[in-house]
Amino acid sequence: MEEGWPAMGGLLLCLAVSLLLQGRANTFTINCSGFDQHGVDPAAFQTVFKQKNFRPVINYSIPTQVNISFTLSAVLEVNAQLQLLTSFLWLKLTWNNPFISWDPEECDHINKLTVTTENLWLPDIFIVESMDVDQTLEGLSAYVTNDGHIIYSKPMRVTSICRLDIFYFPFDQQNCTLTFSSFLYTVENMLLGMEKEVREIADTSRDIVSTQGQWELLGINKATPKMSVGSSLFDQIMFYVAIRRKPRLYIINLLVPSSFLIAIDALSFYLPAESENRAPFKITLLLGYNVFLLMMNKLLPTSGTPLISVYFALCLSLMVLSLLETIFITYLLHQATTQPPLMPGWLHSLLLYCTSPKKCCPTALCKGNVGPGLTSTHLPGLTEPGELVGKKLGPREAEINGGSGLTRAQLTELWVQFSHMVDTILFRLYLIFLASSVSTVIVLWNT
Ligand SMILES: *[C@@H]1O[C@H](CO)[C@@H](O)[C@H](O)[C@H]1NC(C)=O
Ligand SMILES: *[C@@H]1O[C@H](CO)[C@@H](O)[C@H](O)[C@H]1NC(C)=O
Ligand SMILES: *[C@@H]1O[C@H](CO)[C@@H](O)[C@H](O)[C@H]1NC(C)=O
Ligand SMILES: *[C@@H]1O[C@H](CO)[C@@H](O)[C@H](O)[C@H]1NC(C)=O
Repeated sequence: MEEGWPAMGGLLLCLAVSLLLQGRANTFTINCSGFDQHGVDPAAFQTVFKQKNFRPVINYSIPTQVNISFTLSAVLEVNAQLQLLTSFLWLKLTWNNPFISWDPEECDHINKLTVTTENLWLPDIFIVESMDVDQTLEGLSAYVTNDGHIIYSKPMRVTSICRLDIFYFPFDQQNCTLTFSSFLYTVENMLLGMEKEVREIADTSRDIVSTQGQWELLGINKATPKMSVGSSLFDQIMFYVAIRRKPRLYIINLLVPSSFLIAIDALSFYLPAESENRAPFKITLLLGYNVFLLMMNKLLPTSGTPLISVYFALCLSLMVLSLLETIFITYLLHQATTQPPLMPGWLHSLLLYCTSPKKCCPTALCKGNVGPGLTSTHLPGLTEPGELVGKKLGPREAEINGGSGLTRAQLTELWVQFSHMVDTILFRLYLIFLASSVSTVIVLWNT
């Protein structure tokens, strides 16, 4: 008898509890008679509304399952300086409230009602990376179904922190994380789940985002690690949002003009070196490029060193180099035509070797191999050639010249020829450098 009592008591308790639960379930069934004639009776929901301050569960050791989904409707801003991504989400949360139920048969087949959210318990889902307080609109409603399923949607402007890498600007991709978690409830009280497949979320979002803004959604992935803070464990869902910049604006405004200017700079080597236009032309180009950089500066990211800045710096240095080259050639030509210095023997032989394809005699070279525009008569600033022709060099000069006995005019022509050769070589070097640096930048952008 003494051993039987506890067992008997337990049985009775169980019976009582189950009866109580049965009774409760009935108590919370909403009496909806008359909804079809007088609209919803607020009194019928009073018991539910009064409970909104507590988590709606019958057994407190059962966690509430909140299912999450969202649609990324816009990528508003990506701020590389502050490392912030501002996006717009339509968040959808669903959970169950076991205290809400009614029989649609009795209620004119109403199986879904809207209830203002002030009257309902809401899960405190927030985004961990968010750097802004949630400015949710007031007066939103939620759908409540006859079996206690609650569907709550709200728009959210999220400013979240994100590691942004702008090295590949404007061909950059960013991978930002949005972590949804409860602010207060640990895993014992709240579990998070997916309301729909992440692929579905990505597809809907991609369709909407692609119609606006300068960012394109590449995809969304998810991971569900638990987050432990101290001794408490929080459930969370991490979404990795991968976005890519639409580069067209930057290609048209930055890369195309810059490429045109550098192409013109390269082509300006074809202006004859003797013409006095080459240097001013290059200076104008350099000036134009600086103005272009100044104006387009606001399109560039304000922090970090993107590859495009390196590219611009490279273009600018190429222009400066080409200007220096022009100055050097102009100086050489000027020296050649006014007071040609004596030519070292090795340079003379090198010149002869390089300029004569048939390795012919020096006289043939001097008279025949000089192209149009290269003859001394065409050179500006050259003194009357008649004065120079036939004027033999002094004995000492002739000695240094290897005893070749060149006249001053011949020497001038040799120097002019040398200048053109240097010009051509430097131009080729310039082209090689330009081609290799541009292709390096392009290869880097493509990786
Ligand atoms: C439902 O409410 C109506 C009046 O609003 C009342 O007449 C009816 O008895 C109630 N039904 C139940 C099952 O409580
Ligand atoms: C509450 O749930 C826990 C775990 O599911 C269970 O062990 C316990 O018996 C439940 N309590 C009641 C009163 O149903
Ligand atoms: C949440 O999702 C899980 C699995 O997808 C499903 O079993 C559960 O019923 C859903 N709960 C709610 C409240 O929607
Ligand atoms: C984004 O980063 C996470 C981890 O950092 C990675 O798992 C995910 O695959 C990345 N997504 C893309 C599209 O690169």
